Amino acid sequence: MNPKKDSDNLSSQSVEREARVSGQALWQWRLTAREQAIAANVPVDEVDWLLQDLAGLERQSLRLETFKARETIQLARSLPTLTVLWQQRLQERVPVQYLTGVAPWRQFLLNVSPAVLIPRPETECLIDLAIEAVRPTPLLTHGHWVDLGTGSGAIALGLALAFPDATIHAIDRSAAALAIAQSNAQQFNLVDRIQFYEGSWLQPLDHLKGQLSGIVANPPYIPSAMVPALQPEVARHEPHLALDGGADGLDCIRHLVATAPVYLQSGGVLLVEMMAGQAIAVADLLQQQGSYRQIQIYPDLAGIDRFALAYRRPHLSP
Ligand SMILES: C[S@@+](CC[C@H](N)C(=O)[O-])C[C@H]1O[C@@H](n2cnc3c(N)ncnc32)[C@H](O)[C@@H]1O
Repeated sequence: MNPKKDSDNLSSQSVEREARVSGQALWQWRLTAREQAIAANVPVDEVDWLLQDLAGLERQSLRLETFKARETIQLARSLPTLTVLWQQRLQERVPVQYLTGVAPWRQFLLNVSPAVLIPRPETECLIDLAIEAVRPTPLLTHGHWVDLGTGSGAIALGLALAFPDATIHAIDRSAAALAIAQSNAQQFNLVDRIQFYEGSWLQPLDHLKGQLSGIVANPPYIPSAMVPALQPEVARHEPHLALDGGADGLDCIRHLVATAPVYLQSGGVLLVEMMAGQAIAVADLLQQQGSYRQIQIYPDLAGIDRFALAYRRPHLSP
């Protein structure tokens, strides 16, 4: 559990007077919630996420149900409060991460809010691909790396740990998302390593043209018409600015492929996440742009072609 949430819990604890329950009552609440999860087609484990991250229960105690034998348990949130939140999960399909305010990603437990996309497990691969991409040219682990469309700041934090000698630049058009990203950098003592900019794609980095070692992006890539048809947790609650990639889903990727060569140094890396089914189109865009070499497509952990990697061809001398 993260320290910020602990302190949130403690303050709510003093407000909530009814937060003392018997182990038996909690066991019954959990059993009912688990049954409701199954009926509503919600992952059962999410009940325990709520109990851990909001009520302050230990994972092990939940897993082994040792809490059941305790006479009283002091919860950070009362059962009626947890019931209200759980009903939001079941009926309004609010993602559990927005209810708890946290999402695990790589070694981080990140703060999230409805202002940011919940960072996905497949996106974790981008960091490993960036590490692999620079293995032949270790100089690229230095200098400037960019996380375009940083959202919660997940990729920027991952890059900061992967490349301790680099300066990371994190950009987003959403001020509310940047505030969350900054809170996460603070939480993991990485604020000195990451510079944050509110702006559109590479536009805030005019001063670094031709100098970037790498650009990593998980841009919006869902075709506009598909957004309302996504599962309700996503379509109704995640920010559409983070999802909608225009008519064919490729508007942002097209823009990044076209503009990145001006900002990358010779041999610099462009690494982009995309949707299932977009790999051929993205590889074509990179090829046709003419400034990239060694264009490669990589699958995610489910075997779906998900990432495009390319290196900047040498800049021609004037
Ligand atoms: C798919 S989300 C990715 C968030 C985060 N990087 C992650 O992987 O979890 C795309 C992000 O791009 C941002 N975005 C959308 N349009 C943008 C633009 N024109 N310039 C910069 N960021 C933009 C959104 O606000 C959102 O945070």
